[in-house]
Amino acid sequence: MLVQVQLLLLSSVLFSCISNGNAGVTSGFVRNEWPSIDIPLDNEVFAVPKGHNAPQQVHITQGDYDGKAVIISWVTVDEPGSNRVRYGLSEGKYDLTADGTVQNYTFYNYKSGYIHQCLVDGLKYSTKYYYEIGDGDSSRKFWFQTPPEIDPDASYKFGIIGDLGQTYNSLSTLEHCLQTGAQAILFVGDLSYADRYKYHDVGVRWDSWGRFVERSTAYQPWIWSAGNHEIEYFPYMGEVIPFRNYLHRYPTPYLASESTSPLWYAVRRANAHIIVLSSYSSFVKYTPQWEWLEKELKKVDREKTPWLIVLMHSPMYNSNDAHFMEGESMRVVFESWFCQYKVDLVFAGHVHAYERSYRISNIRYNVSSGASYPVPDKSAPVYITVGDGGNQEGLALRFRDPQPDYSAFREASYGHSTLEIKNRTHAIYHWNRNDEGKRVPTDSFVLHNQYWGNSHRRRNLKKNNLHSVVTSVPLSQRS
Ligand SMILES: [Fe+2]
Repeated sequence: MLVQVQLLLLSSVLFSCISNGNAGVTSGFVRNEWPSIDIPLDNEVFAVPKGHNAPQQVHITQGDYDGKAVIISWVTVDEPGSNRVRYGLSEGKYDLTADGTVQNYTFYNYKSGYIHQCLVDGLKYSTKYYYEIGDGDSSRKFWFQTPPEIDPDASYKFGIIGDLGQTYNSLSTLEHCLQTGAQAILFVGDLSYADRYKYHDVGVRWDSWGRFVERSTAYQPWIWSAGNHEIEYFPYMGEVIPFRNYLHRYPTPYLASESTSPLWYAVRRANAHIIVLSSYSSFVKYTPQWEWLEKELKKVDREKTPWLIVLMHSPMYNSNDAHFMEGESMRVVFESWFCQYKVDLVFAGHVHAYERSYRISNIRYNVSSGASYPVPDKSAPVYITVGDGGNQEGLALRFRDPQPDYSAFREASYGHSTLEIKNRTHAIYHWNRNDEGKRVPTDSFVLHNQYWGNSHRRRNLKKNNLHSVVTSVPLSQRS
């Protein structure tokens, strides 16, 4: 373990300082032009699986609060077919079954395939399951690995992807993330960009995206959050109910966290408590999302899940011209809670570039008095924007100049992040740039847990596996 950690640290191209008071870095890396166009539908990345009514667009997500269940979803196009998932502990031996539901819907003149959703629960922790869906010769086989039991010293590796779309750059991001061995994906909104199409093609591009990401989503659970491209408010074709395509296709385990909407919810996985928020649903005081978050934050038990992570789409701190200040209204409502509850990380997308903040907050202002600018705050989360998955809208190339004090590192190119939680006190974070088809770890640091890493609890820990490694990292490179 120690050797692995040391190698990871040494292999990082750039260790960025995330302590306060240092000048931020605007990366000089310039990405070569590469057309940001959607991959044509006849490309093999969208291939329809062979066989009558073969399941396609297979994806899994966590199905309960604590990681002992998955929701498996798939689409059949010819007829409803079987709702059954057959599964077991070895390949080809599917001695357990679970039955789900099937539904379809129309969107203007598009008629969806038959969307199957099946909750598979009562699973064992840290176990690889093999599963089979579909009928007869058209059946298809996949696997997934359950997370470790909820334990403060569990280790777990998350990939973080945002604003993915279905271009050649999206494909690089997906393939690079698969190379990292990330065990689950935290997705920060804007999935298919199907809303860039019109009429029937909107549904067609939701389907192609489902087939495109299946190489990961059928095996690694993706924790979904919704972005503005999921809203799909289209009065010109009479489609005015927000999130219709998204909600029909991407279920979330929102009931398990006593949420009343699939758009905001929480799950616990290994030693992380993950809160998903909706930037495009009401969140001001007394709204359902606000009421739910107030309760959920009180439920967080850092003795069991030391890592508190929030996902949203529109970033609260962003120094790119693109979408500048769009996250401000949510910042005003929720930022004080994030500091009060010592959130470790807030991941967002939306801006098609990468940016990381220092630990700062801007919560002193009130309308009758007080300054209003971000100041160093040890209780504040690190805000990370990773909306650079590679969709057809291209990159957000213009950062504001000069770089604001709150901005630690920023670069306008494509990529994704990984968060490798080692134990209750430490995690290793990377942002990985897509560099001409290569994955290049670029912004990397060791993260100290906000609950265990910065208090007497850390000093009192009898044993800390990472202690000798982390103390060998210069002070300026620690969180
Ligand atoms: Fe967006």
